[in-house]
Amino acid sequence: MGETPKEIPLIEPNRRSFHKIGSIVLGSIIGAILTIPGVGFILSPILKKSATEDSDSTSDGFQTLAKISDLQEGIPRVFPVLGKTKDAWVQYPEEPIGSVWLVKKGEKVEAFSAECPHLGCAVSLGPDGSSFFCPCHTSAFSLDGKPKNEVPPRAMDSLTVDLKKSPASDDPEIRVKFERFRTAIPEKSPLA
Ligand code: FES
Repeated sequence: MGETPKEIPLIEPNRRSFHKIGSIVLGSIIGAILTIPGVGFILSPILKKSATEDSDSTSDGFQTLAKISDLQEGIPRVFPVLGKTKDAWVQYPEEPIGSVWLVKKGEKVEAFSAECPHLGCAVSLGPDGSSFFCPCHTSAFSLDGKPKNEVPPRAMDSLTVDLKKSPASDDPEIRVKFERFRTAIPEKSPLA
């Protein structure tokens, strides 16, 4: 009687191990392929953020609010300031982020933030047009922004103006560097 060949018991476990390892490796590769684009998608707003800021037309901080012909000598007129707001993921369309009073005085234009330095309400023009007035706590200011009573802690916040002349027009654009300042303190201190 010849001997029957013995089975080699290790073959089957080795094959299983090979399949198991292969499945793990394959799963890892598929997971990485699926995950990396997802990470890119999640991070894309952050990665795109600086490019958006660089292409922003108001990146120098100035915004064109009006033309000289929009103003009458010595008569204040208020203009909205538009800006894009964004968080880490979403850039929202332009919307009003503040407003500015412009006053023409000869060849110059003065600009004042319409945000009251007392507690931040919107400053209006008084009923007779000869002074500014804040309805929240009755702050009053002359047309050059100086306080007219004891309520506001300082004058209205003046803003830098740039009159942009162009060879094609004799009606300069009024560009204003819009900034916001801390309220309720005597110093004019820009918000960070
Ligand atoms: S916020 Fe303007 S008077 Fe108080």
